[in-house]
Amino acid sequence: MSSTLIAPSILAADFANLQRDIEMVNSSEADWFHIDIMDGVFVPNISFGMPVLKAITKHAKKTVDVHLMIVDPDRYIKTFAALGSDILTVHYEACTHLHRTLQAIKSEGMKAGVALNPHTSINVLEDTIQDIDLVCLMSVNPGFGGQSFIENTYNKVRQLKAMIEKKGTATKIEIDGGVTSVNAKILKDAGANVLVAGSYVFKSENPLSTIKELKHLTT
Ligand code: DX5
Ligand code: ZN
Repeated sequence: MSSTLIAPSILAADFANLQRDIEMVNSSEADWFHIDIMDGVFVPNISFGMPVLKAITKHAKKTVDVHLMIVDPDRYIKTFAALGSDILTVHYEACTHLHRTLQAIKSEGMKAGVALNPHTSINVLEDTIQDIDLVCLMSVNPGFGGQSFIENTYNKVRQLKAMIEKKGTATKIEIDGGVTSVNAKILKDAGANVLVAGSYVFKSENPLSTIKELKHLTT
C-alpha cells in the first residue's frame, strides 16, 4: 500500500512570513499544500481570498489542494482554476446541484473534491462517488484551526473506504482537522489517503521534523 499523503494547512502558517513557510513545505516531506478559503457565511470565520492564494501558488512547488468553505462555490470555479488550484473541494452542504458542480470543476482541468461536515453521513455520496476524486471528511467543525479531533471520524473513514471498494472507484479519502501523531496511524489503517495538519505542524518547534514524523508514522 502506498504511503499516506501529508498536506500541511497554510491556515496555521505565519502570514507575516508566508513565503518562508511555503518554502519550508516545499523543502519538506509533505506532499500537498492545503488551502482553506472561508467566507464568513458558510462558516463563522473569514480566512483569506484570491490575492493571497495567488501569492501562495506563485511559490508552491507541490499540489495545491483548495478547500472552499463558502456558499455557492459554483460562482468561483473558473477563478480558482485560473489561480493555480490543482484540486478544488466544495462542501456537500453548500451545493444544491452537486453533480453539476463536480462536472464544472473537472471541465476546468482540476480534480474534484467533496467535503462532509462531521454531522453529514457518508451515505449521501452513494450516487456521486464515481465522479469524486477526493472526499474530505471534516474531523472538526469547519471554520477554525486548532480544534480537537472528533473520534467518530474513524467510523466514517471505514464506512467510506468500504463504499469506495464496493464501487471500485479511485477516490481518495482526506481527513481534515485535529490531526496529530496520536491519530495519524489509526486514520491510515482505517483507510485514509491524505492527512491535513495545520496547528500540529506550524505550531510545533520544528515543522520540518513534525512533517517527517507524520509521514513516517503513516508509511
Ligand atoms: C478547518 C480547516 C482545516 C484546518 C485544520 O476548518 O478546514 O484545514 O486548517 O487545522 P488543524 O490541523 O489545526 O485542526
Ligand atoms: Zn481544510
